[in-house]
Amino acid sequence: MNATDLQTVSIDLQERSYAISIRGSLFDNPLTYSEVPGATSALIVSNVTVAPLYAARLQKALRGKYTHIHTVTLPDGEEYKTWDSLNLIFDALLANACDRKTVLFALGGGVVGDMTGFAAASYMRGVPFVQVPTTLLAQVDSSVGGKTAINHPLGKNMIGAFYQPLKVVCDLDTLKTLPERELSAGLAEVIKYGPIADMAFFNWTEDNMHALMTRDPAALGYAVKRSCEIKAWVVGQDERESGLRAILNFGHTFGHAIEAGLGYGEWLHGEGVGCGMVMAAHLSQRLGLVDAEFVHRLTSLIQLAGLPVVGPQLSDTDNEGRYLDLMRVDKKAEAGEIKFVLIDGPGRAIMRAAPDAMVREVIKSCCSGNSQE
Ligand code: NAD
Ligand code: GLY
Repeated sequence: MNATDLQTVSIDLQERSYAISIRGSLFDNPLTYSEVPGATSALIVSNVTVAPLYAARLQKALRGKYTHIHTVTLPDGEEYKTWDSLNLIFDALLANACDRKTVLFALGGGVVGDMTGFAAASYMRGVPFVQVPTTLLAQVDSSVGGKTAINHPLGKNMIGAFYQPLKVVCDLDTLKTLPERELSAGLAEVIKYGPIADMAFFNWTEDNMHALMTRDPAALGYAVKRSCEIKAWVVGQDERESGLRAILNFGHTFGHAIEAGLGYGEWLHGEGVGCGMVMAAHLSQRLGLVDAEFVHRLTSLIQLAGLPVVGPQLSDTDNEGRYLDLMRVDKKAEAGEIKFVLIDGPGRAIMRAAPDAMVREVIKSCCSGNSQE
């Protein structure tokens, strides 16, 4: 892919359809927002890390469209994906007398995007919002598809809404300032799409991991585009996760348990997902769905992306039991039965329960006493 060409992926959801624009030099260009409605007010939601880098440039690009452009700067980190931070957005909206035509702009990673989306879904029962994702993870996954949420101490993303943005602006240039650890976290979600839906993309990801890790613009552009295409294809068929959309949660059941069990922010979301995919692949193998070679290939790629492949201990006394308890509050669990997204042959995912004893064996074999080995 030529990194200088504008790529557009459409997400087809009838009256809630929208475009995902992908290229460099996009977020600070007024033309990028030509189809976004103007209004008296806009609110840019960002955080203490991203706002100093990019908020002034976004504000300048929006000047012709809005009379008043306000900015709210949230604390940075998964541990701040809370009611308190959400309230800071509502405080800013109300203090500035923002009306129901106000457009919210989420400028940041998935944490900012998920909270801005939830605020947009609920302020005055719904105001429009635009996603301007600045992490790889947010560009390939969280900004697309309309899942919005905050965390609860007992479970991740447990309080939220389905609410679609008007547009997603993936500016590849913003990835230049992303810390290495965050780049790796985003690669976990890129790797995810192959085993669940497209083994040709998995092969491409294997062949191009070095280019991705060294931020080759063409490789990053293709990874964002193909990931968004696959996500748009899934969400277009099952917007509210009554079935198919659950496949996008490959690795997330184990991963969310790791994030909640260690305390939000200890492991990054993408790190939990990376390691969670290794555990889910082992479970798939034990159930006879994939062979050892596939598990080895996936584990090697996750490791190559700089992600942990050995799970942390979540309890000194009963590690497997602690994982199981945390996974029982997963959104896919039904009547306390955990449903895992498993690989049913490379390129195909299914949802399935597994015997507790087998899950315990997988956790035992995939975890060590040392959390980041
Ligand atoms: P994040 O939002 O915490 O961002 C990661 C870090 O990078 C933060 O410190 C942030 O300030 C910083 N950052 C962001 N952009 C930067 C840039 N361009 N340059 C320098 N630093 C930058 O984490 P994330 O990985 O983007 O998102 C994870 C969140 O997304 C989790 O809360 C997860 O639950 C959520 N998520 C949601 C969905 C969904 O469908 N809604 C899907 C996947 C993940
Ligand atoms: N990241 C999972 C989903 O959007 O459904």
